[in-house]
Amino acid sequence: MKIVEVPDQTGKVAIITGYRGLAYYSARALAKANAEIILLARNVEKAKENVEILKKETNNEKISVEYMDLCKFDTIRAFAKSYLESKKPLHILMNNAGVMAIKDRQVTDDGNEVQFQTNYLGHFLLTHLLLPVLRTSAPSRIILLSSTAHMMPQASIYKNDLNLEKSYTPFKGYCQSKLACLLFAYELSRRLVGTNITVNALHPGVVDTGLWIHIIDYFPFGKTLYKWFKKFFFITAEEGAQTQIYVATSKECETETGHYYSNCKKAISFNYLSYKKQLHKELYEKSLEMVGLEKGVDYPEVSQTENKKDK
Ligand SMILES: NC(=O)c1ccc[n+]([C@@H]2O[C@H](COP(=O)([O-])OP(=O)(O)OC[C@H]3O[C@@H](n4cnc5c(N)ncnc54)[C@H](OP(=O)(O)O)[C@@H]3O)[C@@H](O)[C@H]2O)c1
Repeated sequence: MKIVEVPDQTGKVAIITGYRGLAYYSARALAKANAEIILLARNVEKAKENVEILKKETNNEKISVEYMDLCKFDTIRAFAKSYLESKKPLHILMNNAGVMAIKDRQVTDDGNEVQFQTNYLGHFLLTHLLLPVLRTSAPSRIILLSSTAHMMPQASIYKNDLNLEKSYTPFKGYCQSKLACLLFAYELSRRLVGTNITVNALHPGVVDTGLWIHIIDYFPFGKTLYKWFKKFFFITAEEGAQTQIYVATSKECETETGHYYSNCKKAISFNYLSYKKQLHKELYEKSLEMVGLEKGVDYPEVSQTENKKDK
């Protein structure tokens, strides 16, 4: 994969969730182009180690880390509150952090299945709480990490069992969360038409990062199998980060919104659910409720004209 040339980002502020894997290389590329970077991490000490390396590698001192655990809504609210109070602008929100295929169903303190909350609901809440600053800083860009997993046979929105209490499998949880990220990008992009805030989702490729840890542990001889697969099918984390860097910074994507990207190009989703606008809306409204945003928040209504247009 070609390494993207990042236009000068002086004056731009980017928030990236996560600090290793794709987050690390995204932060590095943006910092090299002189953006200010704030990494959001639950593991602040480890993230700080990466921040120090990033500062040395990029000669950019404007890289910092803040505590936020996507599995804890109160930490998301606390971060967003302090960020809004800081009056700092925000031009890029990269909703990147994630977990994949946790073997046994786990539930967060907020009562949600861990993959659904980490990958989707936590970012849904964070994005809404930061919308006021994304609006005042526009043009701004929201990026969501989806995956081709959103097209797998298990990938659906289990409307009556979003938290998979009735039937959980590790991949069902992951695929649903990644489809939800894509549908959120589509729905929010329609709701933000005319604001100069773009919203896009993407698949980074099959990338050699820590994300595969649960799968490696799941299969007998997982480590050996991973080594072989890695050799023939995986790209590096730096290569994998290129699509999100491209969508976050390129001139070509400046006004593009409501798209799914792969390999630094617009891509097609083969999951018919991704074309069902009514489902996007239902998931969006249910998610507002699940994260506790149903009353008195700044969430955008979709305009009637946008609703009538086909994707
Ligand atoms: N790698 C691939 O092949 C691939 C393919 C398709 C899509 N993706 C997507 O790409 C994104 C980045 O994944 P990656 O490959 O870079 O994986 P990674 O190397 O495992 O990084 C995941 C990041 O998410 C953070 N994280 C996990 N749970 C968190 C929580 N509750 N709160 C805050 N941070 C949390 C991790 O921090 P901790 O150290 O605290 O866990 C880590 O920084 C994910 O959304 C993934 O679904 C990856």
